[in-house]
Amino acid sequence: MLSTPPILPAKQRIRQAFDQAATTYDAAADVQREVCDRLAGYFEQIDTDFQPAAILEAGCGTGYGARWLQRCWPYAELTLVDFAPGMLMASKIHCPQARPVCADIEALPFANQRFDLYWSSLAWQWNDPERCLVEAGRVLRPGGMLAVATLGTDNFPELRHAFAEIDAYSHVLSIPTPERLLASCQAGGWAMNVWQRQTVRRYYPDLRLLLRRVKAVGAREVEQRRPAPFGRAAWQAVTARYEQLREPWGLPLTYDVVWLIAQGPIVGEQHDRCAASLFLETERG
Ligand SMILES: C[S@@+](CC[C@H](N)C(=O)[O-])C[C@H]1O[C@@H](n2cnc3c(N)ncnc32)[C@H](O)[C@@H]1O
Repeated sequence: MLSTPPILPAKQRIRQAFDQAATTYDAAADVQREVCDRLAGYFEQIDTDFQPAAILEAGCGTGYGARWLQRCWPYAELTLVDFAPGMLMASKIHCPQARPVCADIEALPFANQRFDLYWSSLAWQWNDPERCLVEAGRVLRPGGMLAVATLGTDNFPELRHAFAEIDAYSHVLSIPTPERLLASCQAGGWAMNVWQRQTVRRYYPDLRLLLRRVKAVGAREVEQRRPAPFGRAAWQAVTARYEQLREPWGLPLTYDVVWLIAQGPIVGEQHDRCAASLFLETERG
């Protein structure tokens, strides 16, 4: 039986949104798939001999990344963590050999140095990424590998534009600048293998379908909630502002994606920080 961990109110809402999205997620998650596939692709490029005995997939969702991890390292012990029980149950169906744990990735219920590989795709941005990094460092053995895809500050600029001037509330998740995360990695002694920042864009025929797609993957919670829903006039204003951005392919929605692969500090041993590694500059467009 999966028990539910205690979580703060804002997190409670985020968790509820993902829990409710568990049944619609897979059909709508093409961007999430692309981001995860690219994380896997970067990982394959850097280290072909890596043989982790214990792997943690943090924020596993319905288990797409977990399936890739299991295919690559079928004999490794695979632990799946998610705080949304619905997601975790779906991942268990897709990955029956893995161990599901309902927990918060900012406060993992595992001993220090428990894992050889920490994997997370598109979960850190819902949290404090620096806190996630500290927890990852704690549960990884010295020299263990970290592979993370997360989002940057410029995520969903079109939604920001559409909702600006409508009211005083923030309607899009605020994400700390990725440079802070990079600085924390470097200060924490992580040896960076990959740091890549790039936009991923999709187009939708109209705003209704676009928002439905975003909601279907659970990404609907922001920090500030309006006390009352929008009326018809407010929605018309939002739609008109979004329409200003229409391109020949439809209404754009842009993800600001960051991929990070790093090796944890090895006490008493000097990493050659960038040599023999794939270090990619930030590339946007
Ligand atoms: C966008 S989904 C990504 C799922 C999966 N990694 C994928 O690539 O399809 C984000 C997942 O992270 C989980 N998540 C977000 N914050 C979390 C936290 N603090 N603790 C545990 N899970 C979290 C959500 O419940 C959700 O399943």
